Amino acid sequence: MKPVILDVDTGLDDACALLLAARHPELDLKAVTCVGGNVGIDQVVVNTLTVLDAAGRPDVPVARGASLPFLQPVRTAPHVHGADGLGDLDWPKSIRTADARHAVELLRDVLLEAARTGELVTLIPLAPMTNIALLLRTYPEAAAGLREIVFMGGAAGIGNATASAEFNIWTDPEAAAITLTAASELGVRVTMYGLDVFYDVVISLAEAKALSGSPSADLARRLIERRSELYRSDDGASIGDGGAVCAVIDPSGLTTLPFPLRVELSGSWSRGRTIVDTRDWAGDLTTDPHGVAPPVVQVATAVDGRRYADLWLATVR
Ligand code: RIB
Ligand code: CA
Repeated sequence: MKPVILDVDTGLDDACALLLAARHPELDLKAVTCVGGNVGIDQVVVNTLTVLDAAGRPDVPVARGASLPFLQPVRTAPHVHGADGLGDLDWPKSIRTADARHAVELLRDVLLEAARTGELVTLIPLAPMTNIALLLRTYPEAAAGLREIVFMGGAAGIGNATASAEFNIWTDPEAAAITLTAASELGVRVTMYGLDVFYDVVISLAEAKALSGSPSADLARRLIERRSELYRSDDGASIGDGGAVCAVIDPSGLTTLPFPLRVELSGSWSRGRTIVDTRDWAGDLTTDPHGVAPPVVQVATAVDGRRYADLWLATVR
């Protein structure tokens, strides 16, 4: 089994990711950490516990993390996820409480234990990377417990929160820049599952309708139906963040290429953009005053959407 930790801002599509990670037999979900994003941090914690209950995994520790980005106010997304972040489905809320530790402390504890046993953990951030930046700068020794980081965020092409920037990076650009720089310095491999592939793992409404018979399947159906409504789509909905978990379970369904990457921290219209440098550096680019960005990230450029959709359906069913 592959040990994994999810860092989430649950979120309809974070919920799709949680159901998959909690139920897939080849994943060992060690912990889930929460950060403010799609909704405020307290609601993120409730949503996360609720989804794990539906998945039949009340054993997984869940910790509350950063409520605010480093430098800017939190910006939520009720137009994408409903007022409660879970589509206002009236799904029964968990009565479980979060782990007493801060998310950064839970991450540190699980990763130091992984470093001790050698069972290295894949960290899957699906939200603004505030917790991850805090972790890598506060406890860099915890990186010894990391196998790799596979994050949802950014784009080589267009954004969604703005024309330039994807929501997770736009919400806390400093956190993304710190995370990528620290990971590069610490020798941690990073894969970016960005908007270039994010929308390509689609569940049709007919496939969603066929999901029933367990709390996990029932919730999965309602997540897809609600996401389709909110996107005003008759063709179903993508599992969004869930695709990044598919990429950890079945990496051969994802095409990636290594590119130098920077996060835009200023710019009038481009703050939060991931600048993916796809130039041919074998040519003469010595006149570029910026040079090559030190962090080189595996950038997802294509995904086998049907394969990942089938993987998700088979697991949440
Ligand atoms: O931009 C995509 C991200 O925003 C995902 O993490 C998802 O939660 C969405 O709200
Ligand atoms: Ca998310």
